[in-house]
Amino acid sequence: MANNKDMGFLTIKHSSKMADILDKDVFILPLLYHFGIDLGFGEASVEDVCLKYGIKPELFITMCRVYALKGYVPDCSAFDKDDLGTVSRYIHQSHVYYLNEALPELDRQFAEVLGCYEEVHRKVLSKFYSDYRTEVDKHFEYEEKTVLPYIGKLLAGDTDGAYSIADFEDNHSDIEENLYDLRNIIVKYLPGDAPYRMRYGLLTDIIRFGNELDKHTFIENRILVPIALKIEKNG
Ligand SMILES: [Fe+2]
Ligand SMILES: [Fe+2]
Repeated sequence: MANNKDMGFLTIKHSSKMADILDKDVFILPLLYHFGIDLGFGEASVEDVCLKYGIKPELFITMCRVYALKGYVPDCSAFDKDDLGTVSRYIHQSHVYYLNEALPELDRQFAEVLGCYEEVHRKVLSKFYSDYRTEVDKHFEYEEKTVLPYIGKLLAGDTDGAYSIADFEDNHSDIEENLYDLRNIIVKYLPGDAPYRMRYGLLTDIIRFGNELDKHTFIENRILVPIALKIEKNG
């Protein structure tokens, strides 16, 4: 049975107050941030805010539900080219945030924690983290250099058949898993040489980043791909 928060998100309307939605679940904040939606909503409704930022309310509400509801399955059947452009914008802006803000901050915290350990632990952890960073960089680079430009061409009706969204669907790797392993190493095995406040800060950011990536990947797989497939098929 749906709890109160879930019911709140399932019944969001175009006329719902934006501030109330954020109040129901503050974890939708990254969604607003990646869309560049500034705070200070006052009494503005979802529709008012979406209109201002060029997002269709129905798509925005669906994305809010993805962020707030576990196991939510979005229905993308009514979404069109405009929505694909909007989702693509969200994905690009998320990458910019991960690459320019979240990951450099994780790098900084990780280096700080590593500095407290003897060489033997430092080497193992450092290798694990740098392998992870390489994997994440490659993942975002592929999406930025291949997938999103393809979406741009699809929207312009300018595809050449050499690439299709099924290629992305087939090869879309899971970058949350290694982050989860890193989190487990810190929780289970990392000796307490680094002060707890440092390990706490790092772990909190890893968990936050992992949760964010989880939603981001879900939106790529379950919203971007279905709309792109539909447009490939029907134009
Ligand atoms: Fe991505
Ligand atoms: Fe991805």
